[in-house]
Amino acid sequence: MTKNADESAVCPECGGTGWVLVVENGVELVKPCVCAERERTTRLLKAASIPARYRHCSLSNFEIWNPADPTLKRSQKIVQEFVDLYPNVEKGLLIMGPVGTGKTHLAVAALRELIESRGVRGRFADFTSLVLEIQMTFGGQGSSRDILEPLIRAELLVLDELGAGKVTPWVMDLLYYLVNTRYLQGRITIFTTNFTDTPAAGSEALADRVSARIRSRLYEMCRRVELRGGDYRRERLAHAAERGGR
Ligand SMILES: Nc1ncnc2c1ncn2[C@@H]1O[C@H](COP(=O)(O)OP(=O)(O)OP(=O)(O)O)[C@@H](O)[C@H]1O
Ligand SMILES: [Mg+2]
Ligand SMILES: [Zn+2]
Repeated sequence: MTKNADESAVCPECGGTGWVLVVENGVELVKPCVCAERERTTRLLKAASIPARYRHCSLSNFEIWNPADPTLKRSQKIVQEFVDLYPNVEKGLLIMGPVGTGKTHLAVAALRELIESRGVRGRFADFTSLVLEIQMTFGGQGSSRDILEPLIRAELLVLDELGAGKVTPWVMDLLYYLVNTRYLQGRITIFTTNFTDTPAAGSEALADRVSARIRSRLYEMCRRVELRGGDYRRERLAHAAERGGR
């Protein structure tokens, strides 16, 4: 609490104590200084483990880039409502849709905005990495409990890419434990997934990927958000690269 962003100067507001004296309605009060709040936010953002690629994501920079796709606006609106109402929300979000439609962007935007505006203790976890980490404990590297506990305890968890990759029954049981514990404790979770409940012939449904037990709980735990549009990476990022290359 003693230092500013430049790491050298002592905060001029509080002299480095982290507290300031204010007068409200003629009464003197001691309140946390803004520098203390800033530091807490920085700490929370770091602890959230948001991947560098997604740190820029916000609801305001989520573009409604394809006017022909109503799911962009609708999804942005549902996520905005979730952020505005939090913590007075009963359900988290299940953001479903094909590759590159902005699912992770929206999930991170909600997480980041809640950390910054409400000081929420949130965590981001990627399903594939989580599965790999749990599998490595099989070989004796660390314990699965140490990996899962912080995710169970997080006030708000983003579990990205639910159902991706290959999962053994043993790992699936541990994932069930994670989801079910959060379910039992009424903790709010945002999931994203490429899988749907009504897949094309020959493709797997979400329930096939994560077990019917987990899928069933998600109905109660989450409000569904569906993105159906095109791949933003292909449509926008690729064109930007072409323009830049000219
Ligand atoms: N509507 C949008 N406005 C601004 N940026 C977007 C939008 N949609 C996606 N992006 C950006 O495009 C990239 C891909 O989006 P994102 O990773 O959220 O897609 P996804 O649906 O999670 O894809 P995947 O299924 O591959 O995980 C990210 O850099 C994201 O910030
Ligand atoms: Mg994603
Ligand atoms: Zn200060």
